[in-house]
Amino acid sequence: MSNSDSGYQQTIVAIKDLLGSKGWRESGNAAAYYTDPRGRFTGRGNLVALPENTSEVSQVVSICHHNKTPVIPYSGGTGVVAGQLSLHSDEVLILSLERMDEVRHISAEDGTMLAEAGCILSNVHDAAAEQGMLFPLSMASKGSCRIGGNLATNAGGIQVLRYGNARDLCIGIEAVLPDGSILNELSPLRKNNTGYDLRHLLIGSEGTLGIITAACLNLKPANAETVTAFCAIQSPTQAVGLLQSIRSQIGESVSAIELMSSLGMELLQEHFPNINQPFEQKHEWYVLIEVAGQSGIRQNFESALFEAMEEDVVTDAVIAATETQRNALWDLRENMPEANRLSGAICNSDTSVPISQIDVFNQQTAEAVSSIHSGLRLNSYGHIGDGNIHHNVFPPLGISKSEFVKAHPEKIEAVRMAINEVTHQCSGAISAEHGIGRLKVGDMKQYADPVKMQVMRSIKQALDPNGIMNPGVILSA
Ligand code: LAC
Ligand code: ZN
Repeated sequence: MSNSDSGYQQTIVAIKDLLGSKGWRESGNAAAYYTDPRGRFTGRGNLVALPENTSEVSQVVSICHHNKTPVIPYSGGTGVVAGQLSLHSDEVLILSLERMDEVRHISAEDGTMLAEAGCILSNVHDAAAEQGMLFPLSMASKGSCRIGGNLATNAGGIQVLRYGNARDLCIGIEAVLPDGSILNELSPLRKNNTGYDLRHLLIGSEGTLGIITAACLNLKPANAETVTAFCAIQSPTQAVGLLQSIRSQIGESVSAIELMSSLGMELLQEHFPNINQPFEQKHEWYVLIEVAGQSGIRQNFESALFEAMEEDVVTDAVIAATETQRNALWDLRENMPEANRLSGAICNSDTSVPISQIDVFNQQTAEAVSSIHSGLRLNSYGHIGDGNIHHNVFPPLGISKSEFVKAHPEKIEAVRMAINEVTHQCSGAISAEHGIGRLKVGDMKQYADPVKMQVMRSIKQALDPNGIMNPGVILSA
């Protein structure tokens, strides 16, 4: 047995002993922890640890630190860049925060919620709503993603244009650092200029600098009225124009604007025929737009939309009259990733560009993709108000994903790189909201500022000299 083997065995024995039978699972009994939501990878690892509180997380990490055992933090498992999966080694510890799922405290006066990392996002929503407040971070996976993972990846989602990313909604964190020490920065302070902001260092670090165990979340006042419309438009530029025009009339109350394409609607129709399609006629582009605010906002929104139709910014529109209709419109948007998967997308991008560049970005992406292989189809959709479009690329009509991959294996990577290159030319980011994970480490190296890379390496070295925290994520191991 080599030294590293014996170190790993010692970790396993010590952790089983520490956590007791409820606190760990062996790989044969833990398939969910090795699954990639898009089905591209299978994770590895012999043991999943399920600590019950911060002290146990700290002790588990201390053991791993001592034995130099790699730790893979695991939250809801919904990440799409393999940040939660060990791809090459079984000799890792998967550390799931799922048993730490309590809301420790809510203060209406402070406008904060103290939530443990394992809280499922929709439970955070419900707990805030019970107090007449709103936690606005939201995305299709809200029923299974967990707040610790949302913060570790600085998740975005559908309301960023109004409320910001996960980091903008977090006032403080508690985290276990790579040597097992506990960082306690949970106080609900609105202003705190006492030195480096370690909260923001840990948020978005994808588990490479420590494990967030709890967070002080920033709650917002609940909105009395929420109104959702689905509009047909001629081009993505018109979506941006519509956003500007509605904002100029009713201010910051637009909480979501999501672009959808005609191909996207066809794929939804094919795979989710029970979801009602709002228009009988086919249009090139669509936007789902939502406003939320005080009672009476519906009337202002309706007149703003009416004006947009008169000015030919919007071709057609439906406004949900009931909560059921509103949910049906969101069903269209939220099932889009699954429709893409079921339709055999060969590439799913997550890049962002400045809003002013969206038009050039879309046009150049379409040209670059079709120059790689004629007939490739593009479903471009997503968070247009943030300049964050997800381009999903499909084989030509009549050719399945597996046939295409078999015939042209090199073209999958070529498409991905072409989208990255157009993004870079448009001064964009190669990851807008999904993070770098293990999937985009090479892309990051290629496009990131070299000084930024050097500083990131120095930070990693300072906090995690043994490189045990989620090795291979963001920076190569
Ligand atoms: C979405 C995910 C893929 O917006 O980010 O659907
Ligand atoms: Zn998205």
